[in-house]
Amino acid sequence: MHASAKLPRVVSQSILNPTIESLLEGKVEFVNWDTCDMAESPIDGIYCYGHRKVDAALMDRFPNLKVISNHGVGVDHIDLDAARQRGIPVGNTPGVLDGAVADLAFSLLLAAARRLAEGDRYARRPDVVAFATGERHGRDVHGATLGIVGLGNIGSQIAKRARGFDMQILYHNRTPRSVVEKDFIARWVTLDDLLTESDFVVLIVPLTDATRNMISYRELALMKPTATLVNIARGGVVDTQALTETMLAKKIFAAALDVTEPEPLPRDHPLLSLNNVTLTPHLGSATVQTRRKMAELSVENLLAGLAGKPLVERIA
Ligand code: DGY
Repeated sequence: MHASAKLPRVVSQSILNPTIESLLEGKVEFVNWDTCDMAESPIDGIYCYGHRKVDAALMDRFPNLKVISNHGVGVDHIDLDAARQRGIPVGNTPGVLDGAVADLAFSLLLAAARRLAEGDRYARRPDVVAFATGERHGRDVHGATLGIVGLGNIGSQIAKRARGFDMQILYHNRTPRSVVEKDFIARWVTLDDLLTESDFVVLIVPLTDATRNMISYRELALMKPTATLVNIARGGVVDTQALTETMLAKKIFAAALDVTEPEPLPRDHPLLSLNNVTLTPHLGSATVQTRRKMAELSVENLLAGLAGKPLVERIA
């Protein structure tokens, strides 16, 4: 019999990063998500690298399932209630990525405000022989008002960076967070007030039934014509059609999106052709150091669950 036959069998996508592969080498047998045969020997774990859907039907295909480990903090692609009902622990990677995601939120905010991507494209154009000084003026970030929708751990890191830019900080959460308010001089406001008063709106809420399409036509219409929307949460938090119409009509200054719905957008989507839209390909936590920590934590969760031990970070 092949030595790996005794290893726990874990379903995942075919391409994993080398760090994860080396951390798990000789400890589990990976089974390709797309080609796995349920009639074969049992599946013990699911390792989510990316946002493949893990629903009740999938869980029920694996009667031996002991753990679902997610490489990432957002778990909107996993049916947590179904996992709870079946007693399957779900692990994720909070904490280790807060700084990296906040850095990217600020990168996007600055890039959109100062029209960096557009400026880069212009500066490379073969026909440009002298720079036009009267064009591509952006908006000041320093001293502006920042509205953070979702002041959790990542939101707090964004607020911390905003203090360095002398920004006024507004935030909206279901419940006010008095400690963070004191640390970063942030003020709780209603979502409508945040949208009306902010120069920059950053979305960093989990995607749930309550937050899906929370920014649609009415909400976008509340924003200042000079304001910028940054989405670093999940694409589904924003109504894509409403945003597309808003940006085509130039009703707000800019949008900067690390996430979209769908993701990626179809290659002929109107948002892709707009200079007032800055896009990154879901890079929130994508730094060498942070991805290493996420790999380590998600692997610890996976191995703990396979061994029937408590997960280091358990979300359900
Ligand atoms: C997260 O951690 O949720 C990131 O979006 C990567 O999936």
